[in-house]
Amino acid sequence: MHDALTVVKKTAPVMAVAQFTSLDHAKACAELFAEAAVPAVEITLRHPDAWQMVKLCKDLMPNALIGVGTVLNRRQMLRAVDEADFVISPGFSRELSMLAHKTLTTYIPGVATATEIMAAMAEEHRVFKMYPAAAIGGVALLKSLSGPFPDAVFCPTGGISEANYQEYLALPCVSCVGGSWIVPSEAALQKDRAGYLSMLKRLYQRGT
Ligand code: 3PG
Repeated sequence: MHDALTVVKKTAPVMAVAQFTSLDHAKACAELFAEAAVPAVEITLRHPDAWQMVKLCKDLMPNALIGVGTVLNRRQMLRAVDEADFVISPGFSRELSMLAHKTLTTYIPGVATATEIMAAMAEEHRVFKMYPAAAIGGVALLKSLSGPFPDAVFCPTGGISEANYQEYLALPCVSCVGGSWIVPSEAALQKDRAGYLSMLKRLYQRGT
């Protein structure tokens, strides 16, 4: 099992946040990601076939960490224990945190305020999804929060794009950003698979 810090470091600079629209879409993206050596994917539980998509990505991307996102309740967390490498929520829930600790599941809760960070730190978390990052203050908010919480590590997500992700990554408290812009739609994939492949390869180039 990888701890939350290892997950965000391994996935840097961008956690691919996938909202696949069909199993075919998931398969095509997983093949693309495997070819580009994408290190981790967060598959949001917002599609009726989401768990099948998780299985598909695990099969097609054996070297990557496959996580589930938008985990909102106990039932989803318990299923993720067996089927995913890590779990992400948009917010913080003490119940889910306790369940994750009990089942030794790698859990990255979402936070948006100092109060939520305090609540999550009281449950031994220090790696957070900051969500929805751009809408709640973006880089300026992260700079402010890293004052009272120097040990907190953030993966800001929501409203981050190719145009601004470097500004987030420049902050010492940010280990990676989350973004759906690196996950092509079915139409985009058909139109420019080669373009996405070279973009992803450039993004995850290591040691250069
Ligand atoms: C998420 O679920 O983490 C966000 O919806 C992703 O945000 P984005 O689409 O703005 O990258």
